Amino acid sequence: MVRASAPGKCILFGEHAVLYGQPAVAVAIEQRCNITITDSVDDKWHLEGMIFKPEKHPHIDGLRKRLWHERQPLTINIDSAVPSGSGLGSSAALSVALAAALRAKRGRRVAADGSWHEGFSASLFQTDAYSKPDKGDAGHISPGGELLLGRAALDSDELALLGHAIEAESQGGRASPTDTATASYGGAVMISDRRERGFDWLCSRRLATPEGDRQWEVHRVKMPANIDQARLVIGNTGVHSRTATVVADVAAQLKQNPERMLEIETIGDLSRRGASALRSGELEELGRCMSENHLLLRGLGVSCPELETLIQAAAPTSLGVKLTGAGRGGCMVALTMEPTLTCGAIELAGGRAYISEIGCEGARIDRESGN
Ligand code: PMV
Repeated sequence: MVRASAPGKCILFGEHAVLYGQPAVAVAIEQRCNITITDSVDDKWHLEGMIFKPEKHPHIDGLRKRLWHERQPLTINIDSAVPSGSGLGSSAALSVALAAALRAKRGRRVAADGSWHEGFSASLFQTDAYSKPDKGDAGHISPGGELLLGRAALDSDELALLGHAIEAESQGGRASPTDTATASYGGAVMISDRRERGFDWLCSRRLATPEGDRQWEVHRVKMPANIDQARLVIGNTGVHSRTATVVADVAAQLKQNPERMLEIETIGDLSRRGASALRSGELEELGRCMSENHLLLRGLGVSCPELETLIQAAAPTSLGVKLTGAGRGGCMVALTMEPTLTCGAIELAGGRAYISEIGCEGARIDRESGN
């Protein structure tokens, strides 16, 4: 049995603008997706007590093909505290947690010098996480080596790569690496179209999308200890919105009014200012940048009355407030030193509130036995 988990994410800066080459910053939150895998009792795959239907769960099927090719069937159980369809990265958390569980159970063959005999890596051209693995074991490179099992087999870069490939495959070829990188590495992550000076570069991601080839640079934003004095309070409006629809509306608006691209660039400037504040632990500046980012998002027409109600309720006890994710529903986020008060105010205003530390641990193995 293996139990693995990965965190949800909350975008602090740069949603929408990131689709036009500007940087975005996201943090891993306390709310996690927990996955347990065990050997199946029969010759069938099971999910949550039912027979697994691959067409209904493309994320799970994609990972099964890449990491569990022609192996003994498994029983998968999911216990997630990340609400789905709310812009908190629930599908990325699931994909990354399952990839971690499968890799830990399968193990990884490595050579004496630590180099891999199997696995998915951007630097190993023999294994391609992004192509459809119809021709057998895509993650296999060469026989031999020592078999590492459980935690020792895990690699955050591999999880981020697999997670992104699976999200792209399940979403018609369109997926930014934001959610999956945050779920894999944890902490705070900055995504940009270029390498950002002053931040630790982690990896590049390339994807052939229906709109053409895209490339992102993924960085870690290291945070000082005093960040721990503050909390995020996330308020869920309960209103579901489709990210693709909101993204398309913003695109249409920018096409009609090209001069509004200036606002997108201003969001990019705020992302950089916000990332610097996060890195240096300047909490008040961090909050100010968040609230300024919200005003620009509101100007782009992606807020809604329900989000504004929760934002107004949280503002008096917070350092900064904004919508998070695509908008027109979903969640808002407040940076606060008084999380209980902020949480109460959001709930009084009709929202469902979640308190989180800023930048939690990435994917991990929580339990392993019987390997
Ligand atoms: O709905 P979410 O949380 O996945 O946020 C989408 C963020 C956007 O910038 C609007 C889209 C994207 O793919 O980055």
